[in-house]
Amino acid sequence: MKQLIIANWKCNPKTKEEAEMLFDLVKKGLKDVTEAEIVICPPFVYLASLFGLALGAQNCFWEESGAYTGEISTPMIKDLGLEYVIVGHSERRKYFGESDETVNRKIRAVLKEGLTPILCVGETQQERDSGQAEEVLKRQITLAVEGVSADDLSKFALAYEPIWAIGTGNPCDQKEAGKMLLFIRKVLAEIYDSSVAENINILYGGSVNSKNSASYIKEAKFQGLLVGGASLKADEFVELVKSAA
Ligand code: PGA
Repeated sequence: MKQLIIANWKCNPKTKEEAEMLFDLVKKGLKDVTEAEIVICPPFVYLASLFGLALGAQNCFWEESGAYTGEISTPMIKDLGLEYVIVGHSERRKYFGESDETVNRKIRAVLKEGLTPILCVGETQQERDSGQAEEVLKRQITLAVEGVSADDLSKFALAYEPIWAIGTGNPCDQKEAGKMLLFIRKVLAEIYDSSVAENINILYGGSVNSKNSASYIKEAKFQGLLVGGASLKADEFVELVKSAA
């Protein structure tokens, strides 16, 4: 199975010219890489001008269309030819009031269009320190997949992104991340069954760089990576992918 490496550009870069430049450098750098599926998730406004690598959306709305100023729906994302949609990123939960319930609605909207959701879950430092990390993950996962069939779940990618590791330069070490990976599979096995849980792609995200990317794949046995900051520097991202793939 191919690894899934997702570049989450977040709200970067500031101009279309820079976006195209970064994209082209990444595309050139990765042209010989066949062991990994690379998905670039730029801001929506750049999606229509980038070609040659798979693209994904960073967010979506749950209704198909209507009077919802500022929103972008899953049929629109599908019409652009995209396959992946990040749902429930911790920054959306923290700054834009996204809840487990809205995450679930978005997941269902993504699946309805036949797209692949990349569901993000993870605990804060405080939750980890107070021994609640597993409980938080279990709640986030259980509520996110409410009403989702086992068949649909097999199309998922699920990203374990401890919030304290995101953008901090302080990644979760691969041993600990590996434990959380097993816990996530256990939760899914309880909700569905073990064969469903074994087959879902689980990614790691949080301060991934070219030095540590391989350890999450080769040692902790994740099926892919969700990369923020390091995906904004073409050389670093290319090296990160090559080292992991
Ligand atoms: P980071 O972000 O790689 O900058 O830590 C990861 C993410 O937010 O998905």
